[in-house]
Amino acid sequence: MTRVNQPRILIASDQEDAARCTADLMQETLREKPAGVLGLATGSTPIGVYRLLVNRHRAGQLDFSDVTTFNLDEYIGLGPEHDQSYRYFMQQQLFDHVNVVRERTHVPNGLAANIPEHVRDYEERIRQAGGIDLQLLGIGNNGHIAFNEPGSAIDSRTRQVDLTEDTIEANSRFFNSAAEVPRHAITMGIGTILESRRIILMATGKAKAKAIRVAIEEPSDPGNPASLLQGHSNLTFVLDPESASELKR
Ligand code: PGA
Repeated sequence: MTRVNQPRILIASDQEDAARCTADLMQETLREKPAGVLGLATGSTPIGVYRLLVNRHRAGQLDFSDVTTFNLDEYIGLGPEHDQSYRYFMQQQLFDHVNVVRERTHVPNGLAANIPEHVRDYEERIRQAGGIDLQLLGIGNNGHIAFNEPGSAIDSRTRQVDLTEDTIEANSRFFNSAAEVPRHAITMGIGTILESRRIILMATGKAKAKAIRVAIEEPSDPGNPASLLQGHSNLTFVLDPESASELKR
């Protein structure tokens, strides 16, 4: 008999509860391993999680002094001071408000002069840190994870990618117009993400319901990047009722 790893699916009572579940799982990881390595995500979905982590830090319940972080992705062409860069987002949402050591926070450098060298170095740093203990992920409406768009290979590594029109359109809400959205990004690969010891994919809202159903219930397929996570030995989906609403099983 073949044994297939099944993901854990937590359906929270609402969006806030989903953030609480996710923050609890991250806190549990750091309780077990205070010098843990966290893989972090940007986007609207994890904002509530970071708010809770900041509050728990302020309440003396969470210490980031020995924590190392690696973010999933960054737009090419945006520097850390650009208010739509993911480095800027992380500083605003989390890093500036907790006692993490700046040198131990890693976000791909969207201004790197030599991208092939930079992405090799990023992977090497993850290895040197001992690998990622817990990777937090969102999911795109098109099923992307980080900027691994449909068609990304299961063994893909950190690399430069082109954004799809879907993603440019979805992300244009943060820019003055779609024309200002960068066309290229650096992203951790799916192979890189799959090496994390634990993965939490968080989704909220009706717009994610189809992507969640496909990720969980359709066969694993590079056309649906999140479905490539199936079979990871420690995968948890944290959903709100809306994002879980199309699940049949
Ligand atoms: P969102 O983005 O959290 O802003 O919905 C998720 C993603 O595109 O991965």
